[in-house]
Amino acid sequence: MNVLDSELVVASLRRCGYELTDRRRKADVLLFNTCSVREHAEEKIYSALGRLKQIKRQNPDKIIGVIGCMAQNHQQRVFTRAPYVDLVVGPGQLHQIPDLIDRIRDGGGPQLEVSLPRSGHARQAIARSFESYDPLRDPEMRPSPYQAYVRIQIGCDKFCTYCIVPKVRGPEQGRPPQEIFAEARQLASEGCREITLLGQTVNSYSYRNGGPPTRLADLLYQLHDIDGLDRLKFVTNYPGDMTDDLLQAVRDLPKCAHYLHVPAQSGSNSVLQRMKRGYLVEEYREMMSRIRETIPDAAVTSDFIVGFCGETEEDFQLTKDLVAECRFKNSFIFKYSERPGTKGAERYADDVPEEIKKRRNNELLEIQNAISEEENQLRIGKTYQVLVEGPSKSWRKKGEDRPGMQLTGRTPWDHIVVFAGNPRQIGQILPVTIYDANAFTLFGEVVTQEVAPEVYLLNAD
Ligand code: 5AD
Ligand code: SF4
Repeated sequence: MNVLDSELVVASLRRCGYELTDRRRKADVLLFNTCSVREHAEEKIYSALGRLKQIKRQNPDKIIGVIGCMAQNHQQRVFTRAPYVDLVVGPGQLHQIPDLIDRIRDGGGPQLEVSLPRSGHARQAIARSFESYDPLRDPEMRPSPYQAYVRIQIGCDKFCTYCIVPKVRGPEQGRPPQEIFAEARQLASEGCREITLLGQTVNSYSYRNGGPPTRLADLLYQLHDIDGLDRLKFVTNYPGDMTDDLLQAVRDLPKCAHYLHVPAQSGSNSVLQRMKRGYLVEEYREMMSRIRETIPDAAVTSDFIVGFCGETEEDFQLTKDLVAECRFKNSFIFKYSERPGTKGAERYADDVPEEIKKRRNNELLEIQNAISEEENQLRIGKTYQVLVEGPSKSWRKKGEDRPGMQLTGRTPWDHIVVFAGNPRQIGQILPVTIYDANAFTLFGEVVTQEVAPEVYLLNAD
């Protein structure tokens, strides 16, 4: 979500004459697009801001902005902790950034623009205040012009007790299908081949305008018809809304990646209940078997939080059992971080010591990594259609002008594949045969197209 927000902010600033730079000391405007999911992410921003204090003193015209979730979460507090910040803008006001910068330049002083709190106002007014903008896209501002995120839903109404997202991203709202379709068609016409639909609970997507609601499966059918688009993905799914019609759409539509990110968070019912996740582990298991039945080759990934309030060794064992049983492609594992303003922080003590959180994190990661490696090694010798993204990270780090370019791309199951190639292959979908694999990466070789032998036959008459 933040990658997309950054793309949109930079695109709107470029339209106003700004250029993006990677030299932060030289920049006239410095923006931090922030995350509030864990405390660590917020503290990192305050440390980075601290390092700018001196620079701002020497260059008082430099504009420093904190934008996104932490701006919404801390609001005025950002100015209190870092008084030299000029701009604090929540996720629902990002479109105002060029005007707000002008206002600061014109001597208007520090600017704060955020959405309404989630209670104390009419739902309509709260929802509207979180509505983010969807301006023209800018392929140059994406990590790859061939891949793009498209927001189909903003906000969240699930209110899991550990989670700050409903507070900082506002009420759940589906975007009108016509807008989504128009944006996807535009992206395809600009050469984009893969679209990832975004929502906090993307499979809960529903848009009603009079008639029957449009659901995610309907959207996938509509988007599937767009010429030029080759791949469709969607993240993040909520286990309780993984309906059969959606799974069937993924099975039946050739452009849909067989990749599903469905966070479980815990394998223990008592933890799930305190998290207010709205399902039991038995229901998660049942969902997994439906996925496996409908899409036997699906790559499923998950998120887990370890050390949530009151998590015992027995609870943690149940999480380990679930990970071992589900054989996820990979899992993102987080140590619980108490977020003031959530029900979790209000109701339960953050009582699992940091050391235990760390140990559980490592143990779970070890189980998951072993599974990821085993599953990846089963792919050795197979050939996959890989959408080529660009030079691989490790190759870029060692200097772009080195010979023997290493490229990176993705399979339709979202595996990262690294292989030798050349810049002309970027943006293509190529057959790649896998010769090696570890827990995180497949290594392959582009299948050289066999040139059919040619025959010339002269009919002697
Ligand atoms: N502490 C730790 N992890 C969290 N997540 C969300 N809130 C918290 C928190 N307070 C994790 C969840 C979610 C992912 C995006 O971040 O696992 O799925
Ligand atoms: Fe947070 Fe739960 Fe909503 Fe996901 S579903 S964004 S974890 S409140």
